[in-house]
Amino acid sequence: MTVALTELISAPRNLWRAFKIWLHDRMPRGLYARALLIVILPIVLLQSAIAYVFMERHWEVVTYRLSAGVAREVAAIVETYKDFPDDPDHEKLRRIAATAMSVELTVLPRETLPEPKKRGSLFSLLDTALNKELARRIAQPFSVNTGQSRNFVEIRVALNDSTLRMLFNRSHAYASNSYIFFMWMAIASIIILAVATSFLRNQIRPILRLAEAAEEFGKGRDVKFTPKGAREVRRAGAAFLEMKRRVERAIEQRTTMLNGVSHDLRTIITRFKLSLALMGEGNEAVEMRKDVDEMERIVEAYLAFARGDGGETSTPTDIAVILDELKADSERHGLTTTLTIDGDPTLVARPASIKRLFANLVGNAQRYGQKLEFSIQNDGRSMFVHIDDDGPGIPLEKREDAFRPFYRLDESRNQDTANSGLGLAIARDIARSHGGDIELDRSPLGGLRATVKLPI
Ligand SMILES: Nc1ncnc2c1ncn2[C@@H]1O[C@H](COP(=O)(O)OP(=O)(O)OP(=O)(O)O)[C@@H](O)[C@H]1O
Ligand SMILES: [Mg+2]
Repeated sequence: MTVALTELISAPRNLWRAFKIWLHDRMPRGLYARALLIVILPIVLLQSAIAYVFMERHWEVVTYRLSAGVAREVAAIVETYKDFPDDPDHEKLRRIAATAMSVELTVLPRETLPEPKKRGSLFSLLDTALNKELARRIAQPFSVNTGQSRNFVEIRVALNDSTLRMLFNRSHAYASNSYIFFMWMAIASIIILAVATSFLRNQIRPILRLAEAAEEFGKGRDVKFTPKGAREVRRAGAAFLEMKRRVERAIEQRTTMLNGVSHDLRTIITRFKLSLALMGEGNEAVEMRKDVDEMERIVEAYLAFARGDGGETSTPTDIAVILDELKADSERHGLTTTLTIDGDPTLVARPASIKRLFANLVGNAQRYGQKLEFSIQNDGRSMFVHIDDDGPGIPLEKREDAFRPFYRLDESRNQDTANSGLGLAIARDIARSHGGDIELDRSPLGGLRATVKLPI
């Protein structure tokens, strides 16, 4: 019982939810289209309502009034005909009908009335109205023929000895200029639509600009943006600018601090090296020198990582040139290297950072592989760069770890090298600051494939 009751209560709610989902799927996605819909839908509904009321009421009333007039004229002609049987050839009656009523009258011998011919359903209103009004006014049998000619309505009245045939102008009996009403309605709609379209476009443009600016900033590019448009949009724009300023200030502070740190540490290391040089060629001194060199490298790498992009500005950068240089370098080291380019290899980026990104990836590949393959693909929205090698690769479960700062896969692999384990972390940081990312995968060559994805 309770189950049935809850089902009964929840059924309309479910229906409503299904309707909402259905509507949501069919609503246009863009703000512009949605706003236009909000403007157009009420106009269409309103105009349909007006058109309906007009057709139903106004048009009907006018047609009935006109038909009543026609019926009166028919009655007058019939009565006059009956009262003046001596009129030779009914000449006078015909003349009066023609001049006073614009009716073409013919007197025919008595005949059976023809079946009425109708002109489409649009004119059935005229037929009904005329038939009703005539039936009210004349006692004789009559027939209405609206379907014979474009311009005339034919009415026949059967009398004892003859048949009267009257041709009325259609405009006499019928409100035929209603198309003007619809024309005005269409023109008004088009004007409203044009005004709404241009108005909406102007309102939506600042929102689009804000979205573009935020996107550009996300890709780490220079943004020139001034808030414009309606108050709410300007507020969002101002908030975006404030956020951007805060981020930039934080980056600037970090850069200044790191420059200080790096300067101080370098001074000390240089002093160390100088002292070691003065110590001569003893066994200990050689060991210490090696340690100091390693320390210097690690400090440099660490600072480079922490410094990030260091305020570099974005310019159109040719990735093919960068990879070509790296290719030449690995060939000098005796490795076979190929480079394939598919699509435009340029994109807006910070050149030194991007160079470091690829140098780090290629550096790894060079260390582990004998055969390298670089490829660039541009699909118009993103650029994909693959760096493949035929080395040992990285097992699936360790690929994410490899991006962690100071992470080295296994200590035995690079015992004697002074690698900081920062290369991939730095590379990913650079890719992400450009709005992209790096993924590691299995290479078709057997080793590691590093894929850099960058937005155009
Ligand atoms: N192409 C590769 N093939 C196999 N292993 C790799 C490859 N690239 C990176 N690795 C593994 O991932 C680890 C992290 O790489 P990452 O570049 O971050 O550091 P690193 O090369 O050890 O040091 P750095 O690049 O700072 O000199 C490396 O220690 C290595 O074990
Ligand atoms: Mg490395």
